[in-house]
Amino acid sequence: MVEARITVNGAETPLAPDPPHTTVLDFLRERGLTGTKEGCAEGECGACSVLVARPGVDKPTDWVAVNACLVPAAALDGQELVTSEGLATPGAPGAAPALHPVQREMAVRGGSQCGYCTPGFVCSMAAEYYRPGRDTRTHDESEGGSGDGAACDAEHGPNGFDLHALSGNLCRCTGYRPIRDAAFAVGAPEEADPLARRREQAPPAPVATSYARGNGEFLRRESLAETLRLLRERPDAVVVAGSTDWGVEVNIRSRRAGCVIAVDRLPELRALRVGDDAIEIGAALTLTEIERRLDGRVPLLAELFPQFASRLIRNGATLGGNLGTGSPIGDSAPVLLALGASLVLADADGEREVPLASYFTGYRQSVRRPGELIRAVRVPLPLASVTAFHKIAKRRFDDISSVAVAFALDIEDGTVRTARIGLGGVAATPIRALAAEAALVGRPWSAETVEAVAPLLREEGTPMDDHRASAAYRSAMLGQSLLKLYARTTEAVPS
Ligand code: FES
Ligand code: FES
Repeated sequence: MVEARITVNGAETPLAPDPPHTTVLDFLRERGLTGTKEGCAEGECGACSVLVARPGVDKPTDWVAVNACLVPAAALDGQELVTSEGLATPGAPGAAPALHPVQREMAVRGGSQCGYCTPGFVCSMAAEYYRPGRDTRTHDESEGGSGDGAACDAEHGPNGFDLHALSGNLCRCTGYRPIRDAAFAVGAPEEADPLARRREQAPPAPVATSYARGNGEFLRRESLAETLRLLRERPDAVVVAGSTDWGVEVNIRSRRAGCVIAVDRLPELRALRVGDDAIEIGAALTLTEIERRLDGRVPLLAELFPQFASRLIRNGATLGGNLGTGSPIGDSAPVLLALGASLVLADADGEREVPLASYFTGYRQSVRRPGELIRAVRVPLPLASVTAFHKIAKRRFDDISSVAVAFALDIEDGTVRTARIGLGGVAATPIRALAAEAALVGRPWSAETVEAVAPLLREEGTPMDDHRASAAYRSAMLGQSLLKLYARTTEAVPS
């Protein structure tokens, strides 16, 4: 069997002798690549950001930034990654390496003081530097000032740089303005740029992995059928895709699994099909991939993604993982409930389709049986005409919901014809607001209606007091979200 190994900054590096739960972060640091830092070890600071070669959108390969603290090194067996050390171009013998353009801009614009966060920032920044579709025209033409390139606002630079690419990176001492200046100053990659040229070649294919050390194993199979057979033999295994949840359990709660099975590269879980009556989204597509492939085709999902988590997390997180954990505060569930989605569950005997509304059975419990995987999420078409997602959290981005509310209403001739409302954070499971939905259907979409129905919405679920919010606040936010939706649809606050 081929020894598990990762190509790091161009050099093949064996995983052995590290145990299977070793994160990419520890794997790198133990080998002297200490530019990759540990700040939080739970995906919140981005000090550990590295670039991974993944299948591309407009070219064979994209450089995708991920949190090295969350991903098991064994999950990158056969893959290729670049750290902050690998961004610079080696100089002639005896000469210093040439800084990468993002490193240079960070240096000359004062984007680094203590420097602890800087390697993570430059890796996230480099991923955005190479992002397919980044419109750099205005930057290139800025001397002439034609201004007809990228749309420029507080969150997008004149060089098309999307600041959300840095939403998962925290800096404690520089202040963000010089970092933003650096981000908004980078140009387009030159033709000779090694990482830009690397995008022209295919990324490494996923490889079957059986990596065992001590009491642990990390396993990856190449097809769904093989994976389902393996799951039948090992029903106690932990199934991971992006490891954005499991990585936190390993690091913060010191959990160890006897067997971890990776499903993130299974082709059967990575298709996205738009049919006449449904859109089927592979359970192992990352949220970033779904966002880019749908490109606004499902407005409610487009509204969800930026609020779900940082770009670094969305580059690894999947719908299958978010639903598979059964969390009552996973942000995808309320949205998919409002969309009337169903789940395609697969095991070694075949498939079944379960409406999401009957999937959750209790706190972190579901109808999914041992040995079953979520293969895909089906969103029925046509979509409702009025949709919205309201996430109430302490911070606007990169935070856990106190309450999440998703609406999908069909309003025709001023009357509500259908209504689905998904709620998160107000019960042991994500739920539909059935009483409020029933009260809306058949009534005019008016200030009187929303004021009559808002109290019913406030009564939905059984919210609790905890450190994020009180039960009373959560209930109040439910009612308020309906008033906010009405205001948004009429562009006037109801009296
Ligand atoms: Fe903070 Fe990885 S160490 S996100
Ligand atoms: Fe010190 Fe960012 S430069 S934390």
